[in-house]
Amino acid sequence: MAGGKVYSFEEVRKHSDRKDCWLIIAGKVYDVTPFMEEHPGGDEVLLACVGKDASADFEDIGHTDSAKELMPQYCIGEVDAATIPAKLTYDVVTKDASRSEKATTSGGTWATLLQLALPVLLLALAFALQNYTRAKAE
Ligand code: HEM
Repeated sequence: MAGGKVYSFEEVRKHSDRKDCWLIIAGKVYDVTPFMEEHPGGDEVLLACVGKDASADFEDIGHTDSAKELMPQYCIGEVDAATIPAKLTYDVVTKDASRSEKATTSGGTWATLLQLALPVLLLALAFALQNYTRAKAE
C-alpha cells in the first residue's frame, strides 16, 4: 500500500473512467486501473462503482479471500470520510428504488384491497338477492 495518503471524495471522483479508475471500499482508496481488464467480474461493474462508496457493492458479491488478498496492491490510501456526501449513498439507494417501490406498493395495495373486497361484495350481493327473492315470494 502506498503510504497513508488521505484523499477527499471529490479527488477520488475525478478518477472515474476505464483508463483511470479509483474505487472507495471500506474507507480505503483503490486505484484499480491496472486491474480493469483482469477483474473476473469485468470492468463494467468496477466502472459502475466509481464516484461513490463501493463497499456494499463489493461485499454483496461475496468476494473470496483470494480476491481480498489482491486488494492491498491496488490500495493508494484512504478517503477522508468527512468529505463523502451523506446524501450520496441515500440517493443512490433510494432514487430509483423508492420510486419503483412506490409504484409497485400503490399498485399492490389496490390489488390487495380489490382482492379482499370482491368476495365480500359478491357475498353481500348474493344475500341481497336472496332476501329480495324471498320477500317477493312471501
Ligand atoms: C480492488 C477491488 C476488487 C478486487 C481486487 C476484485 C477481485 C475480484 C476477484 C478475484 C474475483 C473472482 C471471484 C473471487 O475470487 O471472489 C471477482 C469477481 C467479481 N467481482 Fe470483483 N474485485 C474488486 C472490486 C469489485 C467491485 C467494486 C465490484 C462491484 C460490484 C466487483 C464485482 C465483481 C463481480 C460481479 C464478480 C464476479 C462474481 C461471479 O462471477 O461470481 N468487484 N472480483
